[in-house]
Amino acid sequence: MRPEIERAVALLRAGELVAFPTETVYGLGADAANPAAVAKIFAAKGRPADHPLIVHLPSAARLSRWAREVPSEAEKLAAAFWPGPLTLILKRQPNVPDAVTGGQDTVGLRVPNHPLALELLAAFEGANGGGVAAPSANRFGRISPTTADHVREELGSRVPLVLDGGACPVGIESTILDLSRGAPVLLRPGAIGAADIARVLGRAPEAAAPQSDTPRVSGSLDAHYAPRTPLQLVSSDGLLFALRNALVAGERVAVLAPTAQAITHDLVSWKQSPAEPAGFAHDLYASLRELDALGCVRILVQQPPAGEAWLAVIDRLRRAAAGSGEDDET
Ligand code: TXA
Ligand code: MG
Repeated sequence: MRPEIERAVALLRAGELVAFPTETVYGLGADAANPAAVAKIFAAKGRPADHPLIVHLPSAARLSRWAREVPSEAEKLAAAFWPGPLTLILKRQPNVPDAVTGGQDTVGLRVPNHPLALELLAAFEGANGGGVAAPSANRFGRISPTTADHVREELGSRVPLVLDGGACPVGIESTILDLSRGAPVLLRPGAIGAADIARVLGRAPEAAAPQSDTPRVSGSLDAHYAPRTPLQLVSSDGLLFALRNALVAGERVAVLAPTAQAITHDLVSWKQSPAEPAGFAHDLYASLRELDALGCVRILVQQPPAGEAWLAVIDRLRRAAAGSGEDDET
């Protein structure tokens, strides 16, 4: 075993935290069977304890160690998409700690498609079937990290080891599908879309009902994935209008838009985004971090086009806008 992985496994077994790359975003991992270790995740993130975590596994082989019912639809989706950016919500085994499930009767499970994550998870699972509980490795409500440096910026000494696997290829969090109550329900959009799921299952997932009081998916809170600088989503016409207003007011603004810089001015920092959804998702969080660091009055993001392929990034942008402009303590 490589020394880096050996050290990571030793830390996890000792009840410590390890941050690791996945294909979506970096995760902040702990031994999913150890409630005291899992509690350290919530402390490091500043996340409310009733928000459940995803358990990461190296393969679907030991699903039934975590899920007491594995419906055939789960098996089909696992075969089609794992390792990959899809989290399945299944009825949990009674021995899965409440700290992981937020006290719910279900557990989120996924096999990430990243060589370093798979190496870590295989080594940790070992003979006794361990799993790694991990949320995104950011402070609660903030922008998810897509590089090891982002994790260090977010968590610093709160995490003893960050495995560095470079930039995450997908760039936004996994699709979450609830299979625990009959008809599949899409709880969080991601790179695997409803149409992809429908192709495998022969039926489309239902859309999640509007948020109830229990935060089943914390990523579904209206404010999430957010920069500190106020972020505004604007149409392409709206962008030029907002820019002109900002310049008249003498305000520094940052822009994220798929077009080349339209206005050259000292007060305007322009970042061109990829014009297709996968590229846009890949760059999104790094771009928001970069623009957030400029100390502008506002970040203006040109609204991507409508359509299924853009759903996941539009979801993240809306939440980033809703949560933006707040300081750490809120
Ligand atoms: O791509 C991802 O999913 C990344 C990487 C690290 O795997 N993880 C991630 O974790 O985004 P987190 O905790 O930031 O978001 C996971 C979401 C949370 O909103 C949580 O509420 C939801 O999954 N979740 C976990 N267990 C659940 C359950 N039993 N029922 C419903 N939602 C659940
Ligand atoms: Mg998160």
